[in-house]
Amino acid sequence: MADPPIPDAGYEFTSDWFTHNEPTWRTLTRDVKPRVILEIGSFEGRSACWMIDTLPTMADAGIELVCIDRWGHGRGQWPGYQTPAEIDGVEQRFDRNIARAVKRAIHPVTVRKFKGPSIVGLSKLLVDGKFGAFDMVYVDGGHGAPDVLADAVLAFRLLRVGGLMIFDDYLWGRDTDRPDDILRTPKPAIDAFLNVHWHAMRIVAGKPIYQLYARKIAE
Ligand SMILES: C[S@@+](CC[C@H](N)C(=O)[O-])C[C@H]1O[C@@H](n2cnc3c(N)ncnc32)[C@H](O)[C@@H]1O
Repeated sequence: MADPPIPDAGYEFTSDWFTHNEPTWRTLTRDVKPRVILEIGSFEGRSACWMIDTLPTMADAGIELVCIDRWGHGRGQWPGYQTPAEIDGVEQRFDRNIARAVKRAIHPVTVRKFKGPSIVGLSKLLVDGKFGAFDMVYVDGGHGAPDVLADAVLAFRLLRVGGLMIFDDYLWGRDTDRPDDILRTPKPAIDAFLNVHWHAMRIVAGKPIYQLYARKIAE
């Protein structure tokens, strides 16, 4: 049976890097039923709002969501990755969008926001003892290979066995100003991470390949 349409919540979005993933995310999350979720890279909150709109209904329970984003320029990206105009007002839109989503959720939703470099946010979660605390991690922060590798390695420790790790933009690259430099894309990092964790991560087969989906099967 088709899912009921989600009524317009009056969200403020200026870009959409997410809607095309919805059908696959619905299938995957129906299986995993994530209730504690980590998002690395939230921008205006489009993917986060989808999770708040969808996952509590699916699990018939509340969810906890941790969103990490630096909401501004910083180390780990190349000049021009995001222009000042693209960054302007993004964090404020994220806050308003999340507040709207939480307000209309049918089950309790807790959103914890960490503003800063993802490696700091992820390290803080580890220092707080959140090993294996998350059912799902969405890796969608910095898109350079060193950033993605660091995010994946740290997030792996935070993910429970059986949990789902979603990598955005596995095949992305053509939009960079240096299309010859593959280290400005996530793929080498995702490949390296999955190779080194081959005993502990399994790619979910049979899904569209632009994003990459993997389940944690062992510590
Ligand atoms: C593609 S956007 C996320 C989109 C969002 N998940 C969605 O689907 O609507 C990537 C975000 O990652 C953030 N980001 C990039 N590098 C980062 C880093 N090293 N630490 C924290 N956040 C970072 C950027 O500020 C940006 O908001």
